[in-house]
Amino acid sequence: MPTLKETLAARIPKFRREVDDIRHNHGEKVIGEVTIAQAYGGMRGVKSMVTETSALDPNEGIRFRGHTIPELQKALPRAAEGEEPLPEGLFYLLLTGDLPTEENVAEVTAEWQARGTLPEYVYKVLDALPPQTHPMTQLSAGIVAQQPESVFVRRYREGISKSEYWEYTFEDTMNLLARLPALAAYIYRRTYKGGKIIPADPELDWAGNFAHMLGYDTRMFRELMRLYLTIHADHEGGNVSAHATHLVGSTLSDVYYSLAAGMNGLAGPLHGLANQEVLRWILHVREELGGGVPSRQKLSSFVWDTLNSGRVIPGYGHAVLRKTDPRYMAEREFALKHMPDDELFRIVSTLYEIVPAILIEHGKAKNPWHNVDAHSGVLLMHNGMVEHDFYTVLFGVSRAMGVLSSLVWDRALGLPLERPKSLTTEYIKTII
Ligand SMILES: CC(C)(COP(=O)(O)OP(=O)(O)OC[C@H]1O[C@@H](n2cnc3c(N)ncnc32)[C@H](O)[C@@H]1OP(=O)(O)O)[C@@H](O)C(=O)NCCC(=O)NCCS
Repeated sequence: MPTLKETLAARIPKFRREVDDIRHNHGEKVIGEVTIAQAYGGMRGVKSMVTETSALDPNEGIRFRGHTIPELQKALPRAAEGEEPLPEGLFYLLLTGDLPTEENVAEVTAEWQARGTLPEYVYKVLDALPPQTHPMTQLSAGIVAQQPESVFVRRYREGISKSEYWEYTFEDTMNLLARLPALAAYIYRRTYKGGKIIPADPELDWAGNFAHMLGYDTRMFRELMRLYLTIHADHEGGNVSAHATHLVGSTLSDVYYSLAAGMNGLAGPLHGLANQEVLRWILHVREELGGGVPSRQKLSSFVWDTLNSGRVIPGYGHAVLRKTDPRYMAEREFALKHMPDDELFRIVSTLYEIVPAILIEHGKAKNPWHNVDAHSGVLLMHNGMVEHDFYTVLFGVSRAMGVLSSLVWDRALGLPLERPKSLTTEYIKTII
């Protein structure tokens, strides 16, 4: 069986030729136009970059290398004890474009186990930060602290050809992904559990071992991590964590600098931080409405009060999606299977039924439907992980797989420094 790296090495030259041919022969073909509203409005819908690993259809949601989430739940290899896909399989798919076999997945698991030890100095860097430092700050610091280990940087200094860049970016990617669970688990343990490290279990898969190092040794939590880390990995190239990683990577910054940039973007409340905001809001709803599962009517007036006070309903709306996020549905299925009677899940479920109609009547949000962040928090709470500030770190560990797969391909295709043109309002006044 060819290794993951050999499979990539075989794929890259052909795809590079295809892309070179497209750029050379069709480079002048127009794929869109840009309005003033888009230039001021966060570049929504501007087609200006290429990302191979996944594509987002506004009505259907994400496809990873052409496959929907429900398809992958069936097609990707699973752990012996479970029913959820192994994230290693998704990583293999994102990187190569091929659905992996059990053996392909076992190879990634084994590689990550072998490379997964976090260097001693990273613990010291984290220990130097005050314990109340936000877990995302710790994640970013812990990633960038490992930058001196970059194989790419060492080989670049020695002088390598451009066609070899991807190989060392791949090595850095494998090392960093292998160590992320240990890093994230230590952040959790030092911030909330007195700092006691739980050593890795070499018998477990990447996500299962992550659950173990966090201190959650139940089958349900291992399964939750397998699902969670699979579905959050990638959401095409324009979202902030993917775009920031790609942008910084386009300077030939290594994966440590690039991923840290992506994680800093993920830490914003309109992006990855939204899952903790959602949970806070749901707990607040429950408290304000006197505990238990409030009636539809009470929930409905609470939603209206939130809107009328000028705030958004967290967990609803999306910059691109125009239907319920399939990641939300995968999490809902998980809850229905494992914890249908959970009180917070029942609140989320009632909101699932009533909020879209309210947002439609309210008339502002372009997408009144549920996004992934409306659900993840209650799954974690049910399993005993009550530290909301940590949730975005879980998202980050997953997202790293998608954005770093893309970075390997950026190097493989020799994509250039990203440098769009900006305008001044003074200039815009001259053209209107
Ligand atoms: C995700 C989000 C940031 C997308 O932003 P966007 O692309 O600018 O969204 P829209 O184009 O639909 O916004 C149009 C208007 O609807 C409002 N709107 C969007 N989602 C809303 C929501 N969930 N509740 C109330 N109002 C909402 C916006 O605030 C905006 O109002 P404005 O014109 O007064 O500024 C936005 O929907 C939001 O803030 N959602 C809540 C936070 C959240 O769940 N984030 C996680 C995303 S995965």
